[in-house]
Amino acid sequence: MHLATLKLTQFKNYASQGLALSPRLNCFVGFNGAGKTNLLEAIYYLCMSKGYGTGQDQYSIRHGDQVARLEGTFVLDDGREDRIVVKLRNRQRKVLERNGTAYTRISEHIGRYPVVIVTPDDINLVLEGSATRRKLLDNSLSQTDPVYLNYLITYNRLLDNRNARLKELEGHGDHTGLLEVYNQQMAEPATYIHAKRKEFIGPFTELLTDAYARISGQREEVGLTYRSQLNELDWDTLIEERTEKDRIMQRTTGGVHRDELVFTQNDHPLRRVASQGQLKSFVLSLKLAQYRLLEQSTNRTPILLLDDIFDKLDHERVRQLLELVMSSAFGQLFITDTDPERVTSLIRHHPEVNWQRFLVVDGVARNEAEWKRFLEEE
Ligand SMILES: Nc1ncnc2c1ncn2[C@@H]1O[C@H](COP(=O)(O)OP(=O)(O)OP(=O)(O)O)[C@@H](O)[C@H]1O
Ligand SMILES: [Mg+2]
Repeated sequence: MHLATLKLTQFKNYASQGLALSPRLNCFVGFNGAGKTNLLEAIYYLCMSKGYGTGQDQYSIRHGDQVARLEGTFVLDDGREDRIVVKLRNRQRKVLERNGTAYTRISEHIGRYPVVIVTPDDINLVLEGSATRRKLLDNSLSQTDPVYLNYLITYNRLLDNRNARLKELEGHGDHTGLLEVYNQQMAEPATYIHAKRKEFIGPFTELLTDAYARISGQREEVGLTYRSQLNELDWDTLIEERTEKDRIMQRTTGGVHRDELVFTQNDHPLRRVASQGQLKSFVLSLKLAQYRLLEQSTNRTPILLLDDIFDKLDHERVRQLLELVMSSAFGQLFITDTDPERVTSLIRHHPEVNWQRFLVVDGVARNEAEWKRFLEEE
């Protein structure tokens, strides 16, 4: 699957922009603030119906305008074409259309046009608290297993209720037996979530270490450990052991909401020992592992968006990364760079790869021919 055309209207710093894209590799080059990331954001919107990160829709409408519109044509592997339109309106619900018909439920859209984005912010996956890493597990598992998603929602609801009850009790015993009811109701979801997370780690680690070895040229080894209180105890024993403490702390101290993914480099905690380039290599590997999983679960080749990947990586790693993503194991790619020559000098060794370069200046993206004409007219 690939995106063949992209049209932006009053989106971020673009007034009106149409692009005809390469099915393989597209490079957006230009100075800081030119609008390279905004183009990736537009593609992400078409695939996921929302922007990446926490930005709200209203910030995607060009300053001073009331509406924005994105349009993209996806070409599927069987040659069929799907036209997707996103309409953003100030203070109103957005509209998402597929081949001229608005979706009634936007969730129907998710997964049809799989996409993976790598941005400099992803480093937080390693540096921030454990909740971010549990989200990585939950995102990956929910996309492939609706039962998991349901159990996760149930577990979190029961956990909230249980915590609220513990607060109410203010340290006293619960003679109504309500806590006991929550304990029993949480058993099935907790056990399922734990089992699935544990099952996930093996294959995921394999994909991750494989990608890392390729990018780093096997200069160091990374690993992944799944820590859970349920690795040692079953739910009933755990919750029984914890109940006394929970009453005193007035919150639930045992369960899958305390799970942790530990990243390691040569068996040391990654966040403590890894250099900036090593961290970046690790995060890239995490995303490439997710790419494979997404590909397996959707049966479509995801689009890969690489924003600012060259920052902090040495020349050798950049080369290895590009060799990897340009291999036939990947589909359509989008890469941004402030240096117009860096990617192209590496791509020239791959005459078989179809590619396009766009020069981005102040919210206008021009392909090579348009750029040449523009310079001649100047
Ligand atoms: N809603 C908006 N309306 C108009 N302009 C906007 C809007 N949102 C962002 N911008 C502008 O878009 C520009 C940033 O674009 P973008 O993040 O794509 O830059 P970039 O080319 O990726 O730069 P860098 O190399 O620094 O990453 C900024 O100049 C910003 O002011
Ligand atoms: Mg950028």
